[in-house]
Amino acid sequence: MMAHFYSRVLGTGSYLPRIYVTNQMLAKKLAQHGIETSDEWIVARTGIHSRYFAPPEQATSDLALIAARRAIVESSIDLQAIELIIVATSTPDFIFPSTACLVQAKLGIHNGSAAFDVQAVCSGFAYALAIADGLIRSGMYRNALVIGAETFSRLLDFKDRNTCILFGDGAGAVVLTASDRPGMLSSALHADGRHAHILCAPGNVSGGIVHGSALLHMDGPAVFKLAVNILEKVAREALAKADMSADQIDWLIPHQANIRIMRGICRKLGLPLERMIVTLSEHGNTSAASIPLALDVAVHDGRIKSGDRVLIEGVGGGFTWGAVIICM
Ligand code: UT7
Repeated sequence: MMAHFYSRVLGTGSYLPRIYVTNQMLAKKLAQHGIETSDEWIVARTGIHSRYFAPPEQATSDLALIAARRAIVESSIDLQAIELIIVATSTPDFIFPSTACLVQAKLGIHNGSAAFDVQAVCSGFAYALAIADGLIRSGMYRNALVIGAETFSRLLDFKDRNTCILFGDGAGAVVLTASDRPGMLSSALHADGRHAHILCAPGNVSGGIVHGSALLHMDGPAVFKLAVNILEKVAREALAKADMSADQIDWLIPHQANIRIMRGICRKLGLPLERMIVTLSEHGNTSAASIPLALDVAVHDGRIKSGDRVLIEGVGGGFTWGAVIICM
């Protein structure tokens, strides 16, 4: 068997659900609970103008399915050639089975492919990509479908203006294949569970009842401070592993959480702001879906071209963080 040293992106796809929510619409909703916010505050402090919410009948696997189909069509790959499906999500349809198993069935893949979810919150896509890359390079699988999909709107407390203005729903997907051409160039993944409490949904199910709070809690300023530092560090780690300098990066796709964090990272890495892909303003923070959504948007609007080197990096609950450098 021929040795393959890399995994390559064959195709990308994404999907946004149909409920479009502007800051003004959200401000009106919050005002009904006597909570004050404004388009001006949200734009100035976050860079977000709007987000999309899934209607009640649409689950995370439904969003994932559409994004996956688009990536598969673009890849011109036979469905039954997909041997590995990973879904990065913190908002699975069920406690179990995994969203990846549901997506496998909905796609009609019945070849016994491996399928599992990765739970690393907003770093989930970076984690999933690095895992798929490792499994492909080890020779275990040739073709993988990697998806980031979320319905974070269902975790939001619409009485908490610190958090509910930030998040949205969506999905993005890539098909990876074994290749002797680069490919994924390097990756770095980390976590520090001591910071679990600053970003969490601290509920659990026991006896069929939710104990604690299943809604999202966040200490925004603490997350902000940590994010800026670790995103620079992990980007530099991935660059060093790939034996590259920051100026060799064509595109930066940070997790789309806050434009102030994203610009800060760009500046720290010495990259011009034009080399950063920003979908945050329209999508909000879609957690594990934010990076593959931004990747797909920039591939399809022609900014990211074959051969371009893209640095993606995520940060989120856990605390988790990670970076991957891809040659497209
Ligand atoms: O996806 C995982 C990663 N997540 C992130 O990276 C999020 C990181 N954190 C952030 O993006 C920011 O911390 C936030 C956007 C969440 C908050 O922005 P901030 O500049 O850190 O604001 P703050 O929490 O320090 O609050 C400043 C003021 C406070 O009022 P006082 O105490 O100064 O009177 C807040 O009560 O802004 C107030 N405030 C709001 N005002 C209007 C907080 N949220 C709102 C709001 N509308 N929605």
